[in-house]
Amino acid sequence: MQDERNLNLKEKHNQEMQPHPIMELLEDYYRRDMHYEDGHILGSMYTKPPDIVLQAFFKFYQTNLGNIGLYPGTAEMEREVVKFLLRLTSGKEDYYGHVVSGGTEANIIALWAARNIGFKRILCTMDVHFSIKKAANLLSLPIKEVPMENGRMSSVDLEKIVEPMDIVVATAGTTPLGFIDPVGEIGKICKEHNAYLHVDAAFGGYVIPFLRELGYTDKRFGFDIPAVRSVTIDPHKMGFAPYPAGGIVSRENIFERISVDAPYLMEEKSDTLLGTRQSGSVAGAYAAHLYFGWEGYRKIVKKCMNTTHYLVKRVSEEGFELFAKPEMNIVNIPVSNTRRVKKEMYRRGWGISTNPQYSTIRIVVMPHVTPEIIEDFLKDLKNIEKSYG
Ligand SMILES: Cc1ncc(COP(=O)(O)O)c(C=O)c1O
Repeated sequence: MQDERNLNLKEKHNQEMQPHPIMELLEDYYRRDMHYEDGHILGSMYTKPPDIVLQAFFKFYQTNLGNIGLYPGTAEMEREVVKFLLRLTSGKEDYYGHVVSGGTEANIIALWAARNIGFKRILCTMDVHFSIKKAANLLSLPIKEVPMENGRMSSVDLEKIVEPMDIVVATAGTTPLGFIDPVGEIGKICKEHNAYLHVDAAFGGYVIPFLRELGYTDKRFGFDIPAVRSVTIDPHKMGFAPYPAGGIVSRENIFERISVDAPYLMEEKSDTLLGTRQSGSVAGAYAAHLYFGWEGYRKIVKKCMNTTHYLVKRVSEEGFELFAKPEMNIVNIPVSNTRRVKKEMYRRGWGISTNPQYSTIRIVVMPHVTPEIIEDFLKDLKNIEKSYG
């Protein structure tokens, strides 16, 4: 009898130790994906968050910020995250903001609000993120391209083109090159011509403040420039938050411009683009802010910039050109054929991105990109380029 009981307990234990068959099935899919911890994803603005951030993410898996009346705790946590975003963007604590699904949603919200205020046309450069084009299409706003000078918006050309009630989108950390548009000069022009200025700092928002403190730049992009009315800044890029965590902050309450009645909800209002809003990543962003703190983020930027300079040095030592001097941790290397190199590198286990418009491959030097990884990457890149003469 005792033996039988022991046997049952043992069996139960074994069952508990075995992965659930569903997990085995998922494992099969998981294995086919690339993962940040392997260090081979070189073209993405994400990196693996620390464990405490992932614990925070799972703790809040059932909270819905789309119905904040039920979740005052999570709503307060969102406010804390927004306060940190406002510090990064030189805003005041009582400015406005939300954590949303990503930079795309953040940009759409800003332009949607600007249109509802009465602004009528978008001005941006060719290197603006595609979300601006999506927003223009959704909102039926015309777009006019502003020429660039050295990969940044030309304020001279902007001055010639801008009209009252335009929306100017400046980028602080462009997607292809990581360049910072001259937001100060753009701001002056916007003020003079009564244009709305939105800054897309989805990537650069967690980088530029520390580049300044570390002496790499003196450029500004946030609310210390009087014309800046809203800024996109994403915790799920250089902020180490888990997907999906974008951020949108604003000087005035732009959210009331897009707010609709939602009588079935506790608060009876909805003032972002999505209805149900996943909240685990808000907890994740908050945990990341607590875990790293201001100093921790500065160290991360320093490490990424050191690795960026290492990459730049090794690229030229290996006989490759550099497309342009990087302004932050994004490096572009001209190659013979972007599509072919991307495909061949993928076959060798690398996830790289390309800028076909510049005939370059683009490396985003996130914290998982180390000097050792760079050496392996350059070896493979060299072999591929050699094999095509
Ligand atoms: C400058 C910029 N803005 C917006 C976005 C869009 O962000 P998401 O992919 O989170 O929607 C990106 C994405 O890379 C970006 O680089």
